[in-house]
Amino acid sequence: MAAPVPTEIRTERLLLSPPTRDDLPAILAACRETAIREWTVVPVPYEPEDAEYFLTEIIDPGWATGAAYTWSIRRGGVLVGMVGIDVDDYAAGEIGYWMAPHGRGRGYMAEAVRAAVGVAFGCLDLQRLAWHAYAGNVASAAVARSCGFRYEGLNRLGAVQRGVRRDQWTAALLDTDPRPRAGERPAAGVVESWTVPFGGRTGA
Ligand SMILES: CC(C)(COP(=O)(O)OP(=O)(O)OC[C@H]1O[C@@H](n2cnc3c(N)ncnc32)[C@H](O)[C@@H]1OP(=O)(O)O)[C@@H](O)C(=O)NCCC(=O)NCCS
Repeated sequence: MAAPVPTEIRTERLLLSPPTRDDLPAILAACRETAIREWTVVPVPYEPEDAEYFLTEIIDPGWATGAAYTWSIRRGGVLVGMVGIDVDDYAAGEIGYWMAPHGRGRGYMAEAVRAAVGVAFGCLDLQRLAWHAYAGNVASAAVARSCGFRYEGLNRLGAVQRGVRRDQWTAALLDTDPRPRAGERPAAGVVESWTVPFGGRTGA
């Protein structure tokens, strides 16, 4: 590991820190929301014990073993979202995220993803950070695209959601790829790579 993984990360507007028991009500509320239910693998219905399981059986062991690093995204002390890196096999990982409805549309997600990307390449020494989404998730794709991820293709029925197979989009960022800063246009070719998911539109 190039550097220790920071538990706390401060960005321009956000604080990223590991989820705690105090976050459980906010996690419960967020994971019952329609878009998070539609585009992630959260159980439906989502009960308090699911939030508890997420914290004690996924988040905490992830940090303890180095298999996954997950941060609550906080704005002014309020939990607005979640971002995490699952460490896969040799020098590869996968990013995942959600934003509660009250935090959406302000660029918070992209800001948090840029911070997590910094950890992936600056601390974990990954060479490849993958992004997967169920096909059609343009909001998530827009976040990945704005952070420099390059679209790689459609995996037909490539993912499972609650026992049902769905088409999956794949993109990735390599440690050698340029990483756009906030407000910067992604490098040449990145926006174009997303033409198919965005229905022919290339405007970022
Ligand atoms: C995907 C999600 C995290 C986006 O959160 P957000 O707060 O809207 O994202 P941001 O405000 O940081 O937006 C980042 C970029 O995405 C764009 N964007 C956000 N929602 C969009 C949408 N529905 N359609 C097109 N672009 C969108 C923004 O305009 C912005 O683009 P820019 O950087 O070029 O200005 C949020 O919609 C969400 O939590 N959805 C449900 C869970 C989910 O899909 N998780 C990801 C699973 S792969």
